[in-house]
Amino acid sequence: MSGEYILVLDEGTTSTRAIVYAVDGTILHLAQAELTQSYPEPGRVEHDASEIWEKTLSCAREVIGEAGGAERIAALGITNQRETVVAWDRTTGEPITRAIVWQDRRTAEACTRLRDAGHEAMLQERTGLVVDPYFSGTKMRWILDNVPAARELGDRLALGTVESWLVWKLTGGLHVTDASNASRTQLLALDGADWDEDLLALFGVPRHALPEVVDTCGVIGTCDTALLGAPIPISGLAGDQQAATIGQHCLKVGETKATFGTGAFILTNMGEKLPRSSHRLLGTVLCQHEGKRTYALEGSIFAAGSLIKWLRDELGVIRTAGESETLARAVPDNGGVLFLPALAGLGAPHWKPDAKGVVTGLTQGSTRAHIVRAAMESMAHQCHDLQAAFAADGAAWTSLRIDGGMSANDWMAQDLADLLGLPVERPADTETTALGAAMLAGVGAGIHATLEDAMTMGSASRRFTPDMDEGSRTARIGLWQAGLRRHIHGLA
Ligand code: G3P
Repeated sequence: MSGEYILVLDEGTTSTRAIVYAVDGTILHLAQAELTQSYPEPGRVEHDASEIWEKTLSCAREVIGEAGGAERIAALGITNQRETVVAWDRTTGEPITRAIVWQDRRTAEACTRLRDAGHEAMLQERTGLVVDPYFSGTKMRWILDNVPAARELGDRLALGTVESWLVWKLTGGLHVTDASNASRTQLLALDGADWDEDLLALFGVPRHALPEVVDTCGVIGTCDTALLGAPIPISGLAGDQQAATIGQHCLKVGETKATFGTGAFILTNMGEKLPRSSHRLLGTVLCQHEGKRTYALEGSIFAAGSLIKWLRDELGVIRTAGESETLARAVPDNGGVLFLPALAGLGAPHWKPDAKGVVTGLTQGSTRAHIVRAAMESMAHQCHDLQAAFAADGAAWTSLRIDGGMSANDWMAQDLADLLGLPVERPADTETTALGAAMLAGVGAGIHATLEDAMTMGSASRRFTPDMDEGSRTARIGLWQAGLRRHIHGLA
């Protein structure tokens, strides 16, 4: 091994970053670029895959320069927004259409057809996933049905999620995906080493367009020297939520983390046992190393940071994300206001792709502080709904480790501890997604022998302990559940 640093490319929904780590986990250099979000019509969310690539490359070059050149980099880890589908031409290496983002709901009808045709139980059993437009399978099918170039290209068509797209560009044509990302497509059986023929046939996705499924941890190729200045080995590849689980050191069965990024995603480590949910949670691959898999149970919440962004950019009730904390603290309670944040439908455990956001309980006395507080409270409520589902599935949480941009909000961290009735722990460095990718890449390149050894990378945590009287807690939960029943489930 040459070089002493680990480079991570963390390609999220709203921004892409490149971070250079020392092997002890210290962040040495960081570059970040915002990504354009396109909403061409209600329910549709698109990205420009060329923009993702160009901005990722430019951030990588910037931090490599600051680190003293590519020779200093021993390993590269890539972590990414999951489920988002990119389609490109293998000959030109150019995208043939805009990427369909995980939040996009355009395939809701296709999902209804799958359910009506009786496929849901089989899909859940085999893939661990429910039927919802969130996952990649129906998005790939949509591209094949609606983008003429996808059919015209024949064998030249490449389909993949964002890590596949970045690896293709970085290596000049290697087409791979790691098992954690592949487990979000609905085309991989949870215990299958390769794409599942029945699922490919059901979704009508041609195998030749798909990447090869590889380990999360281990060298899968090297970067083109002409791009980054040296043949840096790519030795870690993981979906961002799986990477954050590792970055939060949730390596033992039962350990649980919640990442508050664009959405909020809670994963509990389930070890080598295939996770099965009877309460609308997802079973997913956490990590694959030398062909051996560990799994997680997941609850996916679709609105977290995106809700704060919406309050700021569309509703204009806050000027900065930080103001959400000031306003939540400015009032003693929600004043009867309830915010159901179904801006991209509702995810686990409700799975209502067509649900719309609802604000109720407004009076002449309601202020923007009440609305913002109710929006912030909806984070803890969504997590509380998941807490019940995890417990019912036999995976009760004993504490929750939080991270992601929104977790910096102390009010929200305390509200989570209060509503869940659990200690909530937040590391000083909340960049745990990138840290997890660095740990994976470090192990994959042989810098650390095991993920447990790589836990020397990481920071101390602050603990928030429950401190809410039971009456207030019960009243809050009652208001939320009544709102869900009435406005989301359409019950009296
Ligand atoms: O499944 C979607 C998830 O990977 C998006 O993550 O960090 O962009 O909220 P994030």
